[in-house]
Amino acid sequence: MTAQLIDGNALARRIRAEVSGRTQALKARGVQPALSIILVGDDPASQVYTRHKVNDSTETGLKATLETYPADLSESALLDRIRALNADPQVHGILVQLPLPKHMDASKVIETISPAKDVDGFHVASAGALVTGQPGFWPCTPYGCMKMLESIGIDLRGKHAVVIGRSNIVGKPMAQLLLQKNATVTICHSATRDLKAMTLQADVVVAAVGKRNVLTADMVKPGAVVIDVGMNRNDEGKLCGDVDFEGVRQVAGWVTPVPGGVGPMTRAMLLVNTLEAAERAAR
Ligand code: GUN
Repeated sequence: MTAQLIDGNALARRIRAEVSGRTQALKARGVQPALSIILVGDDPASQVYTRHKVNDSTETGLKATLETYPADLSESALLDRIRALNADPQVHGILVQLPLPKHMDASKVIETISPAKDVDGFHVASAGALVTGQPGFWPCTPYGCMKMLESIGIDLRGKHAVVIGRSNIVGKPMAQLLLQKNATVTICHSATRDLKAMTLQADVVVAAVGKRNVLTADMVKPGAVVIDVGMNRNDEGKLCGDVDFEGVRQVAGWVTPVPGGVGPMTRAMLLVNTLEAAERAAR
């Protein structure tokens, strides 16, 4: 058996087209959806990511503003700037690119963003809303993974979903979203005793560890759906995920590639959240 691929590029393209259409409708009502991105310091990866976010926004009709500050910006100056953006009715989404310089308390910075503008879905209020099923913003990566699952028409009710990784921005919210769809959810992590015993039971596996070959073919139930959130480099410097793609695709029913899987979906869902923030503000 060779798994079918879940094409993140193609799905993200469809989602961006939907965002463009909804953005046009909002603009026709005199509302320009707007995202403010704050980058502190000169981390090269963050510079690339924030540039992508600006370009994605512009292409779909959203207005994105990138504010860059030197690494020695004081925390209080950053908090003041976030408060000003919170109060600005022309700004619908606020994103502070992580990681922040060491002298800043990232939690304090994120908690200063208004939950109504927290398009990353990182605020504790967003996390609480997700757990309790209240309206709020879902973190973009797990949100994108759910869209990928939806795209293949899988009914998650009663399915066993195993999430590998327990980060606040991927593993934990991913488990909550799967639970909302009535899956039976197991979260595995570095202290899990027998990971293979868990993943072999799984109808859906989401690998979100940040380490190569966390999931190999011998750990996958035939026909399972495998979502690979990892972004790593192999020995040749090529981008690869957490999943041994070539091995796992011989066993799984569906698998997401890296690159071209979850990555483009994460980017697309930020646009969805920003548009949603603007639509909510306009209501
Ligand atoms: N750094 C790496 N990924 C992200 C992200 O999705 N949001 C923010 N704010 N920072 C990041």
